[in-house]
Parts: sequence; C-alpha cells; structure tokens
Amino acid sequence: MMTYRFCGNSGLQLPLISLGLWHNFGDVDDFTTATQIVLHAYEQGVTHFDLANNYGPPPGSAEINFGRLFRNHLKTHRDELLISSKAGHPMWTGPYGDGGSRKYMMASINQSLQRTGLDYFDIFYSHRYDPNTPIEETVQALIDIVKQGKALYVGLSKYPAEKARQAYNMMQEQHVRCLIFQDKYNLLHRKPERELIDLNETYGVGFIVFSPLAQGLLTNRYLNGIPDDSRAAKSHGFLKREDVTPEIINKIKQLSILADERGQSLAEMSLAWLLHKKSVSSVIVGASSVSQLQDNLKAINHITFTDSELRQIDEIVVSD
Ligand SMILES: NC(=O)c1ccc[n+]([C@@H]2O[C@H](COP(=O)([O-])OP(=O)(O)OC[C@H]3O[C@@H](n4cnc5c(N)ncnc54)[C@H](OP(=O)(O)O)[C@@H]3O)[C@@H](O)[C@H]2O)c1
Repeated sequence: MMTYRFCGNSGLQLPLISLGLWHNFGDVDDFTTATQIVLHAYEQGVTHFDLANNYGPPPGSAEINFGRLFRNHLKTHRDELLISSKAGHPMWTGPYGDGGSRKYMMASINQSLQRTGLDYFDIFYSHRYDPNTPIEETVQALIDIVKQGKALYVGLSKYPAEKARQAYNMMQEQHVRCLIFQDKYNLLHRKPERELIDLNETYGVGFIVFSPLAQGLLTNRYLNGIPDDSRAAKSHGFLKREDVTPEIINKIKQLSILADERGQSLAEMSLAWLLHKKSVSSVIVGASSVSQLQDNLKAINHITFTDSELRQIDEIVVSD
C-alpha cells in the first residue's frame, strides 16, 4: 500500500510517510501504545523510523524504548528497516555533550548504538549547524562515521543553505555523498522554499520534512480548544499553549473546509500538499495513537491538487 520515492539522486527509496519518535516514545509515554504505533507503521510499509540522541524525555529514552521494541518484535526484519539518529543538541553535561565537535559526534553515535542495541544506523545526521565548530570538523566526523561502518549514509538537519552547500562540496570531494537534508516544512512554515529546496535538487540530496503537521496544529486537534492529552497541553511538549493563536486557528478552520471538499481530513491534506512536491522525498510524521497514524497514512491516496486548490491554500496560509 505504501509508495516509495528515491531519496535525491541516491538508490535508496524512502516511504512517502516516515515515523518520527521525538515525542510519544519517551519514558513519560505509554510503552504499549508506542509499540503498537511502530508495529502498525511497519505493517503499513513505513520502513523508516527517525530518532535522535536526545528524544524522550528523558533524553535517550526514545532510543532505549525503540531498541526494546525492536528486539521484541522487529529484530529479524532489520534489513527491511531504515533507522536514523542524530547528534547536535544538548545531551550530556560538560563541553563534549553538545554541538558539532568530532568528540561529541563520535561519542554520541556510540551511545546511540548502545541505547538502541543496533549494529549500525542507516542514516546519521548532524542535528544542527554549530557556529562554534569549524564545519570541516563536523563534516569530517560524519564522513568517518560512514567509513567506520557505524552509519550507511549521513545527513544534515537545520543547516543554513550556505553551510549546507559547503558541507555537500566537502563530502563530494571525499566520495561520501550527503544523502539527505532534514528540515521543518509545512503549510504554515514555508522557509525551505526560499533556498534549500533548490540547493538540494542541485546537489541531488534528498529532502525529508519534519513537523509536517506543525506539531498537530495542521490537524483537527485544536479546532475546539486545547485538549488535555495534546502536545500543547503537556508540560514536556515542544508545542506551547501560546502557539495555538487565534490567527492560526482561523487559518486552520479555513483549511479544514478545503480539506473537506477534497474528501480528506486536514491532516491528510496537509501531508498530501507536501507530497505533491517532487522535491520532498518523505514526510516524518509524529503520532500519539494508532488512529492518528492511520489518518496520516491515508494522505498518500490523494496527493494531486488542482491549480485552484493550490491558489486557495496559498491565499489562506500566506495571507499576511
Ligand atoms: N531534525 C530536527 O531538528 C527535528 C525537529 C523536530 C522533529 N523532527 C522529526 O520529525 C518527527 C515529526 O515531528 P512532529 O512530531 O513535530 O510531527 P507532526 O506530524 O507535525 O506532529 C505530530 C503530532 O501531531 C498530532 N497529530 C499527528 N497526526 C494527527 C492526526 N491525524 N490527527 C490529530 N492530531 C495528529 C499529534 O499530537 P498529540 O500529541 O497532540 O496527539 C502528534 O504527536 C519527529 O518525531 C522527529 O523524528 C526532527
């Protein structure tokens, strides 16, 4: 049922919908639900699971929990799965637990492999650009991680375009291509359209989208207030109550009407809008229940838009 798309100019295919474990897979969350979500995803052809060293809370617990459910249920399917992790945000105390130094990158991938119990990651990312570390040092660490067999491919996340270009060039020179760029992109956040999408296409680097549903804003979750069990209501949620503004709700209500006319939920239409762009290799969705994931997976059934629909969407979301 799943559709796969080549990641940039590589031979690696990604499912149109990938699953992210940033929220809902920490020790604060229900392990049974987390297991059900991952297994349902796998059964529906979602081959790609996205982690990072700091996902939780507490940091590291999402990798530990994924490792546990992987050992219990998916171990014999390792070659059917693409598992990624990242280092770049604060992870442990002292000067070596954050940023982009070789010291941090190398220690972090070793820790992530240990927490998950995996022999290697399919993709390992520099989680963010570190202005305090020469980019050559971070990129060389990524290249060496591939050469050491700890990851098959490497990627960058949230780098400014000019820094990404520098990194792509350096990797090309050393014959370890950058596979993929991960960035925030959704109906309410269009920044990658300015430079990054063209840059990735020029270098044949795939583009994978995070927070495609704007952390839940681009769904029916907040249409009637802030539910107690939602990300915005949780103290550890990255989405804050104050992010759910009347302006956003107004846009979401208008988008909902359009989604309805297309016969889709707002979540489906929001994902479909990203997937109708050939430059998007995959979208990494989050989900706090199997039913949310099921809703999201339906998006792939209708990813074409008429010019009029695209115009109406733009009028709603980029009106100010
Ligand atoms: N590279 C980076 O720096 C970076 C940064 C952020 C994220 N990421 C990656 O991207 C992944 C996805 O990010 P995200 O969790 O922000 O993605 P998202 O898909 O935009 O938001 C997921 C949240 O939206 C709500 N939701 C999802 N589907 C729904 C549906 N059908 N109906 C109603 N509500 C729905 C749920 O919130 P409730 O909890 O309220 O139910 C869910 O937890 C992360 O797990 C991570 O792997 C990477």
